[in-house]
Amino acid sequence: MKRPLLTLMAVVACAAAGSAVAEKEARPPVDAENIVKTICAACHGEDGNKMLTPETPKIGGQRADYLAKALEDYRSGSRNNVFMAGVAQPLSDDEIEALAAYFAKQDSQLYTLK
Ligand code: HEC
Repeated sequence: MKRPLLTLMAVVACAAAGSAVAEKEARPPVDAENIVKTICAACHGEDGNKMLTPETPKIGGQRADYLAKALEDYRSGSRNNVFMAGVAQPLSDDEIEALAAYFAKQDSQLYTLK
């Protein structure tokens, strides 16, 4: 009597796992470099070391978890900045992760206003 139930549970578990994998595979890969070139570079530079204004923080070489947290906070509004709110709101979780990893990989240079 117990076997059909176990079989059913195994089938349900496999189906759930299978759809989670399918969902992940269905998501298009993020082209972080393209987002950086078309959006972020204007203010932060392609390597995250340029600063358009003295208020623009240097983000090249910063820790990825720090950068991701900052982007999530701008997106949710818990960190408020007029420029970054507009930039972060449309970003998906995958894009935030990819952008944070991209800037974390860059060389960290001294703080210079260019
Ligand atoms: C219009 C100019 C502008 C653009 C475009 C821009 N940023 Fe920013 N960014 C800023 C400014 C100004 C700040 C500082 C805001 C503040 O005081 O909180 C900032 C802050 C940040 C921070 C927080 C850094 C820290 O040390 O806390 C991160 C991370 C960041 N930007 C990432 C990005 C990414 C990724 C993009 C592209 C998707 C981007 N920014 C596009 C101007 C810009």
